[in-house]
Amino acid sequence: MKNYVSASVLSADMLNLGSEIRKLENNGIDMLHFDVMDGIFVNNITFGLPILEQVRKSSDITLDVHLMINEPAKYIKRFADAGADIISFHIESDSKAIDTLNAIRECGIRPAIAIKPATPAEAVFELLPYLDMVLVMTVEPGFGGQPFIPETVDKIRTIRSKITDLGLNVNVEVDGGINGETSAVVRKAGANVLVSGSFLFNAEDMAAAAYALKDERIC
Ligand code: DX5
Ligand code: ZN
Repeated sequence: MKNYVSASVLSADMLNLGSEIRKLENNGIDMLHFDVMDGIFVNNITFGLPILEQVRKSSDITLDVHLMINEPAKYIKRFADAGADIISFHIESDSKAIDTLNAIRECGIRPAIAIKPATPAEAVFELLPYLDMVLVMTVEPGFGGQPFIPETVDKIRTIRSKITDLGLNVNVEVDGGINGETSAVVRKAGANVLVSGSFLFNAEDMAAAAYALKDERIC
């Protein structure tokens, strides 16, 4: 499967978001990862629909929206209308997973389910035929810049092998603490969409950092 890098807006310079996006586009970044937090599902509040709309108007890059909110089903249509290409929501949220996935598909965009570090791989098995992507959180959701949790690696491996057994074409995304070292570990376990915030935005050479995250030869 092809590898992709999704840059987390949480680590961008928000006062200069337009030029930050141009920089991502010019340095081999495939997607923009847009972390929406409501202060209830997680202990933090970020940004939402008006910013996503502005970003959509200024770029054709794939917008990978990660909803860390309690009632994602209520907001699917609005995020799709605002320009999301992919929407991930949490299986631990209050919305019914299958209904929410269907709502995303009905909007003509790609559905994904996200799981927190303590949620077992098996929780997503029956949903795999309905998904474009599984997002395995490799830190506790809520904040950028946290260290990678190594216990999540087995879960990535289990989910990838189930996808292969079922003959499906589902992406596995990882989010949190991904850098030049942990990217090789998660790719070897079967992840192919790598979210990166602090590693990418703090890199002196963003193109080299993106290349290191995707480099097939490290596997
Ligand atoms: C955490 C967010 C992540 C975060 C990743 O809740 O979902 O997307 O921004 O940031 P880094 O790469 O710095 O761990
Ligand atoms: Zn995220």
